[in-house]
Amino acid sequence: MTKLYQNIVILTGAGISAESGLATFRSSNGLWNNHRVEDVASVEGFERNPELVHSFYNDLKVEIQKAEPNPAHLAITKLQNEYPAEISVITQNVDTLHEKAGNKNIYHIHGQINQAVCLNCGHILETFGDVDTETVCARCGVAGMMKPNIVFFGENLLCMDKVETLLRNCDLFVSIGTSGVVFPAAAFVQTAKYYGADTIEFTLEPTSNNFYFDRHVYGPAGKTLPPYVDELIKSASKS
Ligand code: APR
Repeated sequence: MTKLYQNIVILTGAGISAESGLATFRSSNGLWNNHRVEDVASVEGFERNPELVHSFYNDLKVEIQKAEPNPAHLAITKLQNEYPAEISVITQNVDTLHEKAGNKNIYHIHGQINQAVCLNCGHILETFGDVDTETVCARCGVAGMMKPNIVFFGENLLCMDKVETLLRNCDLFVSIGTSGVVFPAAAFVQTAKYYGADTIEFTLEPTSNNFYFDRHVYGPAGKTLPPYVDELIKSASKS
């Protein structure tokens, strides 16, 4: 008999978008195999060569815009619609597939590809179009101060105050498609476990966080997550 949960936190990484055709970061053909993190995902890299960084994310936007949610994203929507609990999605992904799938309560802790932030006035520009060193801020009118609204290594994560509360209050922590090597997201499972949550991991192979998960489901999340969601919904209908 599966327990009835009240507050579920789902943490996602690049692996949940893999079956939508988007590259992960650390697999054999991962993004970090073809680009140096220091060049395209660090504050120093952006200061050194903003044109390179803008073109990296402009190219990524084209890929992401073409991608469609897969059964794993859709299973989260089904869980949020049919399971009687507060269910939040904390994602490390900058793609918008959770939104496209109809997920709710989404927290992009590493930012979003379809946003740029003005370093002069803080205005957030929402666009899938190209942003570059000529782009003029719609609010302050200054050109060349737009930065992709992506959290670079060395920058603080977004939504962390809300995330801390969610992790402390959850009774089920579900990790999907993340290698568990980038902190602080990699430590979320430890916090959830410390505060008493059951923990389950959906990934292709054992990750660095193996020890903190009560259960491991190995395989493509598009195949492994829907049956798990159906099992949770069924058990809720019986209680
Ligand atoms: N289904 C489930 N899991 C999958 C699938 C799939 N179809 N495909 C890959 N995975 C798993 C891999 O086994 C791996 O554990 O997804 C994980 C992807 O790991 P990474 O490529 O390291 O991506 P992620 O964990 O999201 O990286 C975290 O690192 O560079 C930063 O900001 C970047 O948000 C990113 C963060």
